[in-house]
Amino acid sequence: MTSALSGPPELTTTDLARLAVESRALIASYQDASGAYPASPDFSAYRGYSWFRDGAFIADAMSAAGDTVSAEAFHGWCAGILIARRTRVEEIVAAARAGTPVPDAQMLATRFRFDGAEGGDDWWDFQLDGYGTWVWAVVEHGRRSGRLLTPWTDAIRLAVAYLASSWDRPCYDWWEEHSAETHVSTLGCVVAGLEAGIRSGLLGAELEEEAASAAASARALIAEQGIRDGHLVKWLGSREVDASLASLIAPLAVFPADDALAAPTVDAVADALDVDGGVHRYLADTFYGGGQWPLLSCILGLASLAVGDRAAAEQHLRWAAATSTAAGEIPEQVDQHLLAPGRREEWLDRWGTVACPLLWSSAMYLRLALELGVVTPAELAS
Ligand code: BGC
Repeated sequence: MTSALSGPPELTTTDLARLAVESRALIASYQDASGAYPASPDFSAYRGYSWFRDGAFIADAMSAAGDTVSAEAFHGWCAGILIARRTRVEEIVAAARAGTPVPDAQMLATRFRFDGAEGGDDWWDFQLDGYGTWVWAVVEHGRRSGRLLTPWTDAIRLAVAYLASSWDRPCYDWWEEHSAETHVSTLGCVVAGLEAGIRSGLLGAELEEEAASAAASARALIAEQGIRDGHLVKWLGSREVDASLASLIAPLAVFPADDALAAPTVDAVADALDVDGGVHRYLADTFYGGGQWPLLSCILGLASLAVGDRAAAEQHLRWAAATSTAAGEIPEQVDQHLLAPGRREEWLDRWGTVACPLLWSSAMYLRLALELGVVTPAELAS
């Protein structure tokens, strides 16, 4: 889609930096004593739950901001959830090895209550990406901070064994949709986790070999069926893109800036889904009418910056900042440009107004602001 070259002129660099400070404070203020990051404190459908996917990205942003305590509290919460399910993971792995994989309903959940329980509400469970992104986030935190990963060793091993055993199963995607497909973003998040697990040096020889073999197979599958016209696509065999693909360029760096897929994928996502800096999830989106998502603008901003387009990254940051409320809260999506306006009302009736604040939105804003140098960890700490 076409995109204008400048963001809202009224936002100064000081405003952008202030919002980064507020974003960090907002995330810290809502983090539960257990370490869980609520997806959105008051939104009807998310209240009381924390997602591995959202949380891993939030923890990564807090780690980049220098907030080791917050990031590690979340990693500890995730580790507790995995360790409490050790037997279940072992059964899943054994069944997959025996060629009799467990049904989807027995795979690990996508979101948990703050006390670590699954909770009683029905959800589109069985999504693999969050476990991969979590392993990536914890290992990346260790690299960035120089902190030892020892407290999370067991949980990292369990998550890697889980992913290595089941990486090729179709499951719900980032948007908790299309469970019959194999999603390229999901595969990429799994690869990020497996390869981070290997980099951690904590797996032991046998698991390391399994992780390497699964990661190589997942990469080969993407290469065979997840690319069209030189860029990544939404699911295997699809022609469409999904904005979540930009995360595989940055921050996950599964296909880093110098990979032949990186720049074409950033371009394809921008061409299809970016309108004036605000980014849609995918063209057929109807959720709340299919608006633009600040967190995706910031992810595309990180990917754009990685491939050398700083102007685009700044425009995405400005656009995301302009969606914030006076209290510095950033919503899940905004309705300035809807892909399916006729479908907005049904979601308002079903779940109420769009989630705001969404902690993942604040996190991606913070992460991009740091990457652009709009604010530094030292400034955030003062
Ligand atoms: C999104 C997910 C997200 C969840 C919690 C859902 O609407 O599709 O990606 O994890 O909200 O924020």
